[in-house]
Amino acid sequence: MRKIAVLNQKGGVGKTTTVANLAAYFAMQGLKVAALDFDPQAHLTIHLGQEPETLEKGSYSVISNQSGFDESLVKVRENLWLLGASIDLVGAESELVSVVGRETILREAIEQSKINFDYIIIDCPPSLGLLTLNSLAAVDEVLIPIQPHFLALQGFGKLLQTVTLVNKRINPSLRVSSILLCMFESRTSLSCEVKNDISEFLASARQSQCAWSDANIIPVHIRRNIKLAEAPSYGKSIFEYEQSCNGAEDYEQVAQYIHNGKRQSGIIDEKQESLKE
Ligand SMILES: Nc1ncnc2c1ncn2[C@@H]1O[C@H](COP(=O)(O)OP(=O)(O)OP(=O)(O)O)[C@@H](O)[C@H]1O
Ligand SMILES: [Mg+2]
Repeated sequence: MRKIAVLNQKGGVGKTTTVANLAAYFAMQGLKVAALDFDPQAHLTIHLGQEPETLEKGSYSVISNQSGFDESLVKVRENLWLLGASIDLVGAESELVSVVGRETILREAIEQSKINFDYIIIDCPPSLGLLTLNSLAAVDEVLIPIQPHFLALQGFGKLLQTVTLVNKRINPSLRVSSILLCMFESRTSLSCEVKNDISEFLASARQSQCAWSDANIIPVHIRRNIKLAEAPSYGKSIFEYEQSCNGAEDYEQVAQYIHNGKRQSGIIDEKQESLKE
């Protein structure tokens, strides 16, 4: 099982779009996927066609120890389960402040799961609070979407510092696996400059022991594509909404790269091996 948190505390960089479409793609390939909405805005929940108000259980009930992981999932497609977010999640951070072991509640809940998932993918909120810490404690990989515009890397150091802290104190297996450039515009020099800055930064960490020393920029970028912005309002993934657009092509390639290019030795089973190369 691969567990991936999609994180950037900057808002609107493409986290939710990435989680929804990667999860949908993997599920379409026959892999069992759980997509976890840990953002009180509940955009992932809506993107996958659910109404946050009608959810009886979800990430809030799991994080407040009112329900188990499996019983809180909603099956939203063949092979795809959602742990939905509702507005209650806003209060979770403050309610948990005095709870002992509050950073590892999600990890412990996932450990109790009886469903044999191939992927668990978490949509983090645009902040570095307790919901994000729970996500980082529960996964092995962090995928950071970046929108390459002015100040794109502002706050990047703080993000990596948070990952380092969780890595040292709570989750020794945590690694930043990759950076995904979203809403990329190859015609603008700024997109390419930001990409070069990140490349240089990552190269300088190669020999170190830090949690991002083997991270790389995914060679396929997600181009700006209006269809990706339209699909959520229909509760559809890009593959359901417009299969032949750039957005679908880009996310398909990114999913294949994540699956095949960054395989972790020994973890991928036969079913995953057979995923279309
Ligand atoms: N490649 C793209 N091309 C065009 N629009 C996009 C693309 N990716 C995402 N969008 C749109 O940009 C907006 C922000 O994307 P998204 O919601 O995925 O970001 P986010 O990082 O999850 O935001 P937040 O921090 O608020 O949770 C959304 O309206 C989304 O539909
Ligand atoms: Mg989001």
